[in-house]
Amino acid sequence: MAVNLKGRSFLTLLDFTPHEIRYLLDLSHDLKAKKRAGVHEQMLKNKNVVLLFEKTSTRTRCAFEVACHDEGASVTFLDSSSSQMGKKESLEDTAKVLGRFFDGIEYRGFDQDVVELLAKHSGVPVFNGLTDEYHPTQMLADMMTIEEKFGKLKGINFTYMGDARNNMGNSLMIACAKLGLNFTACAPKELWPTDELVAKCKKIASESDCTITLTEDVKEGTTNADVIYTDIWVSMGEPPEVWETRIKLLSKYQVNSDAMKNAKKDAIFMHCLPSFHDTNTKVGEDIAKKFGINEMEVTDEVFRCKQSVVFDEAENRMHSIKAVLVSMMS
Ligand code: CP
Ligand code: NVA
Repeated sequence: MAVNLKGRSFLTLLDFTPHEIRYLLDLSHDLKAKKRAGVHEQMLKNKNVVLLFEKTSTRTRCAFEVACHDEGASVTFLDSSSSQMGKKESLEDTAKVLGRFFDGIEYRGFDQDVVELLAKHSGVPVFNGLTDEYHPTQMLADMMTIEEKFGKLKGINFTYMGDARNNMGNSLMIACAKLGLNFTACAPKELWPTDELVAKCKKIASESDCTITLTEDVKEGTTNADVIYTDIWVSMGEPPEVWETRIKLLSKYQVNSDAMKNAKKDAIFMHCLPSFHDTNTKVGEDIAKKFGINEMEVTDEVFRCKQSVVFDEAENRMHSIKAVLVSMMS
């Protein structure tokens, strides 16, 4: 069955069938190979894309910018301090204006409702570059990376350790359910995804012949894993006061050499980045002073070990975002 994603928005993987996600992954691999071979097809020539960032970013912004440049599109970047959005102009009006100028809109911010609203009123494809709820472009890069390492997705045992109800926990559970990976959230109950999303994903997983498991037990959660994944303990937009409780809740879910030993021998370690694996960041340094810990969600040893594929994952953000832009905008 042919897949046509032209004109679609990319807001959450829940909106896409496994077949459509498969198409995006195949295109991502293809575009990566073409870039390596020096083949540039300029599939977005004469297109204009606006990037709206209400939260900070390194990878997502650069991935969108490089993908656009590679394919011949022009990019305009706006952050909340340099635009009227949400302050002097409603989102609905902003969406209507941007839709007259641009062929596609990327948005990173807080509420999922905002990307939904932009998509509803702009009349052009809208790409979710991360909200509090979901991070769908990250999912394509992650699944692409797993495929590169194992040559398959179906049947992979995927364990996510940490805040399992943030944008990453939610999105990874959905991606695994859609693509046939056995997903385990290994986290304290307080940080499990909502019952509603779990029920939705269990239904999807039963159609993809895979499982969704939630456990508080680290040994159970990590045994036999092919992939161990984690994310920062406090996400962008959360108040700094939550660090203390989060550290208490999540310390035992740190990805360290014991967790990796429980996993399969050839297991890989993944992280969307940025990561607090040492004190070489302002936040890392502050937390070390305040709470006396030098590593958080992952130890420096695991972050830097041979099984860690975090920089392949980061590179794949660009190839997979290019696949989204090319398939939905050209
Ligand atoms: N993984 C990710 O989205 O990174 P940035 O916050 O740097 O965009
Ligand atoms: N959960 C993290 C993901 C960063 C890519 C955050 O929202 O800050």
